[in-house]
Amino acid sequence: MQGGPVAIDGELVKAAAERLASGGIVAFPTETVYGLGGDATSGLAVARIYELKGRPRFNPLIVHLAEVVAALRLGVRDRRAERLAERFWPGPLTIVVERAPESGLSELVSAGLSSVALRVPSHPVARQLLTLVGRPIAAPSANRSGRISPTTAAHVRAEFGDRVDIVLDAGASTIGLESTVVSLIGGAARILRPGAVTQAEIEAVLGERVEVGGGAAADTLPIAPGQLASHYAPRARVLLDCLEAGAGSAFLGFGDVSGGGAAVGGPRCNLSPRGDLEEAAANLYAMLRELDATGVDAIAVAPVPEVGLGVAINERLRRAAAPRPRGDD
Ligand code: TXA
Ligand code: MG
Repeated sequence: MQGGPVAIDGELVKAAAERLASGGIVAFPTETVYGLGGDATSGLAVARIYELKGRPRFNPLIVHLAEVVAALRLGVRDRRAERLAERFWPGPLTIVVERAPESGLSELVSAGLSSVALRVPSHPVARQLLTLVGRPIAAPSANRSGRISPTTAAHVRAEFGDRVDIVLDAGASTIGLESTVVSLIGGAARILRPGAVTQAEIEAVLGERVEVGGGAAADTLPIAPGQLASHYAPRARVLLDCLEAGAGSAFLGFGDVSGGGAAVGGPRCNLSPRGDLEEAAANLYAMLRELDATGVDAIAVAPVPEVGLGVAINERLRRAAAPRPRGDD
């Protein structure tokens, strides 16, 4: 299921950039997951993203740029942000800083917060698109709110059909999990969402201890998906730390946990038969979708070690397994 970025027609990318510049919505590949992009300086475009996703307005969007310097300029100058950007951009790290007063960004992008989440992706097609459009692009993952993030263009089309103006198809996302979100607001750096850039890597660059989780405000103010209990959810129930699947369930293995027992013959996938966490991350969302599409009641998932990228994989699995709020789509 893994595959590197594939080449894409330059004219299509140009058409997508023009569409974005005139207020349209374009889905595009990044190294993490596919994004649903709109002009971050246009309140109308940002509102359309929220509407398409069915996203609660209090959950702010990430702003994407091609250039490190231009991205940092949208925030108030922050030495720690500069150090992280130098080390990890372009790449799968989102940095939350105070918004610069003259950023020109739509207020809606930050959903009422005084901060902004900035990201410079490394995917060549994303970079080409962002360079051509020449302005900040707001892009949440291209899925309906609360559901599984897309790692292929086909996932995006399944989610939105023709309600998105253009879907740029560059094959499967190589990382397969959303970017690490680190907030530098108010004292200690804090990881709001784990991802491919790990706590240890961030601590090494900053030379200080980094907190993990939503912090004191988490109960009252959801500021990252980490604070919304149910997220990344398939239709089927998700069961964690299973060594086998019961009747009517699918099994999602990892390593040599093959999930025998009652569900022999039932739908099954293995995130990485050789127990490789990068391969597992890249396969996670596509396999959850594939097993969900078989119509099973539940997906039983094998244990994944809580180290390195496993921290981010397990966080997504726990959200997928969390109780669903009533009325969640
Ligand atoms: O890998 C990714 O980050 C993908 C690709 C498309 O770039 N994007 C993505 O966006 O995952 P999204 O919107 O699905 O998740 C980003 C999360 C938001 O849910 C939000 O809670 C958090 O980042 N966030 C955005 N702005 C924030 C802010 N100002 N303060 C705290 N958290 C923020
Ligand atoms: Mg998302």
